[in-house]
Amino acid sequence: MTLTYRRLTGADLPDAVERAVAAFGTPRGEDTLNERLRERVDHGALVGVESDGRVLAHGAVWPADHWIGGQRVPCQHVASVAVAPEDRGRGAGSALMRHVIAEGAREGLGLSLLFPALDGMYRALGWEQAGAFAWWRLECRSARVAGRGPRVRRLDLREPADRAAVRACHARFAAGQPCLEAREESAWSRLEDARFAWGHDGDDGLDAYALVDHESITGDWRYRLRIRDWAATSPEGLRALVAFVGGHGTTAADAVLRGPIPHPWSLVLPEQDLALTGHFHWMARGLDLPTAIAARGFPAAVRASVALRIDDPELPDARGPWRLSVADGHGSLEPLANDDDVLATARLDATAVGPLLTGHRTAEQLALAGRASGDAGALAALTAAFAGPQPTLADFF
Ligand SMILES: CC(C)(COP(=O)(O)OP(=O)(O)OC[C@H]1O[C@@H](n2cnc3c(N)ncnc32)[C@H](O)[C@@H]1OP(=O)(O)O)[C@@H](O)C(=O)NCCC(=O)NCCS
Repeated sequence: MTLTYRRLTGADLPDAVERAVAAFGTPRGEDTLNERLRERVDHGALVGVESDGRVLAHGAVWPADHWIGGQRVPCQHVASVAVAPEDRGRGAGSALMRHVIAEGAREGLGLSLLFPALDGMYRALGWEQAGAFAWWRLECRSARVAGRGPRVRRLDLREPADRAAVRACHARFAAGQPCLEAREESAWSRLEDARFAWGHDGDDGLDAYALVDHESITGDWRYRLRIRDWAATSPEGLRALVAFVGGHGTTAADAVLRGPIPHPWSLVLPEQDLALTGHFHWMARGLDLPTAIAARGFPAAVRASVALRIDDPELPDARGPWRLSVADGHGSLEPLANDDDVLATARLDATAVGPLLTGHRTAEQLALAGRASGDAGALAALTAAFAGPQPTLADFF
């Protein structure tokens, strides 16, 4: 079966909606799904593969920057991959993903990121779990800090100054939290309709904020704080957020929020009351590797030089051999020249690239699973180069 890849248009929309309804159900109603797919078509983000003029698989693909090692890395988002039940099991989903990989690499995007509904199909094509998406719960009465804690002020997100302050605070926070998204306008507009916003002013502007909705809790007269988004960039700001939650302790039962594992708030809470209530791994895959390496930041104290080969059946251009060099917080990946000094050498499976580059896995862990091999020095150098806080995403896509 020959499958042709193309961008879908408005004319494909009715069929795409049928396919999406059959694949995902309609918990939020068909109108919402329709609207979402139309938006994707309008942005040129809906792609598909067809045979004999009939689309068999579609998915959404668009570029987005993520913070890795304190720098913005151009990435690819993949979402809403759907094949109608009658067309499944014939390779349409995989064929679509192969085109998506090739397109992302051609466009110079460093990594491909997705929230999988199944790992197997994506792993077979080079994606692997590369970070967490976690939900936490904190009883408001447990959110204590010494004294009354720093005070927050109410923010008005209709005011440009407050909106700009929140976005600037998020950018400073995200630069230190791999792999948070460098949000575009559309992502912010979805968050900024939160019912409440509070923040804390530090010496250099807003150093913490929380965007909050109230929710009812079945069987409890108290309400829940749903913290849609938060960031803190100073110890005082962090304490202010915890004190802010604690200040709700008479009438709100708990707060639910996102955050990395381990959670930054645990360091200012007196006891282990911040509980991980659910977590899920998103997946990443390498695309244009020289771009990914040049764009991301590296620990300033690390110097490394490693010869790398990558077993990537889908992307011949990614195989190398490469010379990975890291120094002074920057990295480069260049074709290995014949006359290069003999370097410590490592070989990576295609699925090792995502988790290594985000810092989710050490090279030694990947080697244990048979996804990396090489001399101990090379593996240790890779681990040191890509080390950082556990990668996390806060925005589902
Ligand atoms: C997941 C989906 C896109 C796969 O499409 P498809 O065209 O059937 O996939 P392929 O024929 O290319 O299968 C590729 C591999 O995926 C895996 N796979 C496919 N469907 C699977 C399922 N239901 N459960 C587990 N693994 C599955 C298999 O490993 C398969 O490889 P194999 O045939 O060598 O065993 C399709 O089943 C679908 O639309 N499901 C509902 C929506 C969904 O889950 N989308 C994914 C969102 S992230």
